[in-house]
Amino acid sequence: MNIILLGPPGAGKGTQSAGLVERHGMRQLSTGDMLRAAVKAGTPVGLRAKEVMERGELVSDEIVSDLIDAELAGMAPGMGAIFDGFPRTAAQADALDAILARNGRVLDHVIELEVDEDALVERITGRFSCANCGALYHDTANPPSTPGVCDTCGSTEFKRRPDDNEETVRMRMQEYRAKTAPILPGYEARGIVTRVDGMAPIDTVADQIDAILGG
Ligand code: AP5
Ligand code: MG
Ligand code: ZN
Repeated sequence: MNIILLGPPGAGKGTQSAGLVERHGMRQLSTGDMLRAAVKAGTPVGLRAKEVMERGELVSDEIVSDLIDAELAGMAPGMGAIFDGFPRTAAQADALDAILARNGRVLDHVIELEVDEDALVERITGRFSCANCGALYHDTANPPSTPGVCDTCGSTEFKRRPDDNEETVRMRMQEYRAKTAPILPGYEARGIVTRVDGMAPIDTVADQIDAILGG
């Protein structure tokens, strides 16, 4: 099973990917996470991406397509892939088709998380994650069950993303509208797009996604 989770910043792509990894043993391929790891490690890709990400603009198609290509090449053929935050442009959509074909994989579903734009800024500015294991939380919608302690690993260290401020979020939304939303009609023409109400509670969204994968 190979699926794309598509939606604007804060739609819940990362949150739902984590659930799918847990429930179905799929692998999450998040170009945002890969880029943040590269920035942290100070690799040449990280050095090129850092300021672009802080502005909320898109990193080059070539960089992110190479990241996905390398990650997929190392995966067992039977392991399902969740593409989170990729593709984001028409060129990346074409690159993904070529990469999947080379790996003998087929794109099964494009799941669009539909969200109300006004809610996104609040979602993103309330987001934090575990500094140890990366588990995602939200100040009000999804806090750890014991305040200050990660549910997954017990760590008490948390962090926030440098691009999670209102100004950068607005730029990220603009990039989504201008460059990413236009790739949907191509997938619709193939009959593989399903829309999910991303404003529903996290568990309800997860149930809707499971229904798509099972059906
Ligand atoms: P990326 O990391 O992909 O960020 P994004 O697309 O802006 O999406 P987010 O990660 O902000 O949101 P999400 O949909 O994962 O939501 P989450 O589950 O965390 O990209 C970052 C940057 O990297 C880009 O700006 C760009 O510079 C670069 N980049 C990455 N990929 C690229 C590419 N392919 N090409 C070029 N550049 C690229 O949820 C958000 C919050 O809401 C959380 O706190 C969560 O707990 C909460 N929440 C989630 N679901 C719900 C719900 N149903 N109800 C209530 N709260 C919820
Ligand atoms: Mg994410
Ligand atoms: Zn943790």
